[in-house]
Amino acid sequence: MTHTSGHGRLDAPDASTPDGHGIRGRRTPADGEPGTARQPGTARQPADSPATYDPETFWEARLRGRFDLSGAGFRGIGKPFNEALYRQREIVFDRVLRRLRIDPPQSRVVELGPGTGFYVELWKRRGVRSLLGLDITAVASERLTAAYPSFAFQQVDITEPWPSPDASADVVTAFDVLFHIVDDVRFATAIGEAGRVLRPGGVLLVSDLFPRRAIRGHHHVSRTLAEYKAALARHGLDVVSRAPVFVTMHPAVDVPAALAALSGRWWSWLERWLIADPRRGRRMGRILASIDRVLTRPLRGGPSTEVLIARKR
Ligand SMILES: C[S@@+](CC[C@H](N)C(=O)[O-])C[C@H]1O[C@@H](n2cnc3c(N)ncnc32)[C@H](O)[C@@H]1O
Repeated sequence: MTHTSGHGRLDAPDASTPDGHGIRGRRTPADGEPGTARQPGTARQPADSPATYDPETFWEARLRGRFDLSGAGFRGIGKPFNEALYRQREIVFDRVLRRLRIDPPQSRVVELGPGTGFYVELWKRRGVRSLLGLDITAVASERLTAAYPSFAFQQVDITEPWPSPDASADVVTAFDVLFHIVDDVRFATAIGEAGRVLRPGGVLLVSDLFPRRAIRGHHHVSRTLAEYKAALARHGLDVVSRAPVFVTMHPAVDVPAALAALSGRWWSWLERWLIADPRRGRRMGRILASIDRVLTRPLRGGPSTEVLIARKR
């Protein structure tokens, strides 16, 4: 399952962000991947690394190395800040369920890239009717099958056909996953599969940055809202709304350039400060999460990561 980008490297995966993008100016990272947040003294992946991104190898190594929130989230800044980021994600997850009147006990969910199972646990606690998790790694499906025997997990590359019948899902989720598909043809295939598997009226939830200009990195491509809308529309999916996830806890990209630069500097400082002592993430995470919880509530579009909601016609 070796994937190559059809674009080559347009941006250096340099800055880091919590959920896989990290943006300073136009540089891009992926969530804590090699070359983004680093423990002091560890090597940065060369910004112009010619290595091909092989998602299976990359994620297998990463998740086997650390099967916890900082393995799936943003490595380097430590567990406490990652926990705060995930708490904020949970708040937004619940907002989205309420907004869409999704009733978990009635919902058949296909979760793309469940990773270490953060959202699997959320669905379980909310009594979801059924859940199928499709992850490119063997480690995710092995460990999640052991931890959640009542759900199904398969090792599947979501850029290839999914093992699900047509119109069999009420909800498909892709939390911090689609931006790890660097090849546009494969990206379109994954969107096409979501359109095929969702029943009419079903919803696709995608978290990404939706920046003003696409951000293309070695392991990560954040596409614009217009690019998403066009790809989704081709498969009968209409964007109905968006829910912002972060304001201060993650670099802002959907803002005027001066603000983006300011936010990049803020994140850069925060990253260094947390890497120097990840225990700081507990207090700082609490403070920033309480700000983001309030700021994201009234917004219908945000400066940073959002959950995009698309409905199947
Ligand atoms: C950044 S992690 C996110 C994990 C989880 N959704 C979360 O938010 O905690 C990305 C996940 O997507 C999976 N993944 C990446 N590319 C994939 C692909 N082409 N097909 C299936 N899974 C993929 C990785 O194995 C990993 O579990």
